[in-house]
Amino acid sequence: MKTNHLIGPFSKIYPLTKMPLRGPLKDDQLHCISDGGILVDGKKIVALGKFKELEQRAASVELLQQPLICIPGLIDCHTHLLFGGSRAQEFAMRNSGKSYLEINAAGGGIWSTVQQTRALSDAQMKHILFKRIQQLLLSGITTVEIKSGYGLSMASEIQVLSVLQQVQSQVPIDIVATCLAAHILPKDWNRSSGNYLQTMSENLFPVLRQQALAERIDIFIDHDQFLLKDIHSYLQAAQKQGFDICFHAEQFRVGGVALALEYGAVSVDHLEVIESEQIQGLGASETVAVVLPGACLGLGQAFAPARQLLDAGSCLAIASDYNPGSAPYGNLLLQAALLGTFEQLTTAELIAGLTFRAAAALNLNDRGLLAPFKQADFCAFPAADIHGIFYNPKPFYPAKIWKAGIEITPLNPYTHPL
Ligand code: NIG
Ligand code: FE
Repeated sequence: MKTNHLIGPFSKIYPLTKMPLRGPLKDDQLHCISDGGILVDGKKIVALGKFKELEQRAASVELLQQPLICIPGLIDCHTHLLFGGSRAQEFAMRNSGKSYLEINAAGGGIWSTVQQTRALSDAQMKHILFKRIQQLLLSGITTVEIKSGYGLSMASEIQVLSVLQQVQSQVPIDIVATCLAAHILPKDWNRSSGNYLQTMSENLFPVLRQQALAERIDIFIDHDQFLLKDIHSYLQAAQKQGFDICFHAEQFRVGGVALALEYGAVSVDHLEVIESEQIQGLGASETVAVVLPGACLGLGQAFAPARQLLDAGSCLAIASDYNPGSAPYGNLLLQAALLGTFEQLTTAELIAGLTFRAAAALNLNDRGLLAPFKQADFCAFPAADIHGIFYNPKPFYPAKIWKAGIEITPLNPYTHPL
């Protein structure tokens, strides 16, 4: 029995196939199918092609009523989406001359969000998460990475990651969970920082495995709280237990990239202050370079050298870093568009960084481009062509979104308080 479902016609479909995973991209590599259709069976794509030619293979058809261009669902591969409270005061403090790291060292910053997050019940965490996920879905994001790191105790890290796991079955977005227990040393830890990292690797990592809470371990080391020898022990333990490793590195100082490459990290994220030797090293490696323009906008810092990273051969992904401290501004497409103008990135490089290259940062090879057997995640924008996605006034929302083959209608979190 035929179960194929045909969606279209789209004025243009951009499959993003035939583009390399690494290095610079030219816009003439962005081939498109005009008057195209996508044939879907269950959660997967069966075929793409001219709508008319696919019609005979379809058991059912969804006929689009307006001209829309279609791209793969966007992937936000670095967020801290689950947090409690606000840090609006710190925004003002930074603008009056205090640095992000000074505020952190004085017990504000990340620690302030840890306290506000620990105060939440499971139900409150779920409510916050539903609301923020609707916001992401509205902008066409169909896969999101979410880090812990505002728990920083066994119980609280497990609580946050368990909430992510529970919410997963209730939302039409794929959540990739990452454990960031090595974010900072929690202020209420009354033994050494080495003891903290060791406790987390010996006690928390096995629980993550047993309960399938996370397969990725992240670490932030641009502060002075963790000693190098303890960082090594932590990362070795993570590797031994089979976790993927990713890094917050080179946001404020040099050092993390070399370490990330030593451990074959799947991604190294931030890179605002990366220097030329590391740019070359990263470009020659398989580690994905994730840049976070939202954090630069939030902190008033220059963007990471995305142009140079691409020219050195990197696989460059672009993510929001959505968090209450450095990146409270949200909109991923706006952030990517601004990065594009300042760093002179082609539309092909921008869209790749939000789709198949972001998938690589999460070690996922079943999405981020439109091809047979890939997950049927895509969204359609009212634009004349793909340049319009970055050009049109923001927020620029897709008119339609499909997740795993099913059309979804996100609630507007601003007009529908959940
Ligand atoms: O990616 N720099 C470290 N971690 C986050 C910010 C966390 C926070 O300030 O709450 C980041 O910028
Ligand atoms: Fe981050």
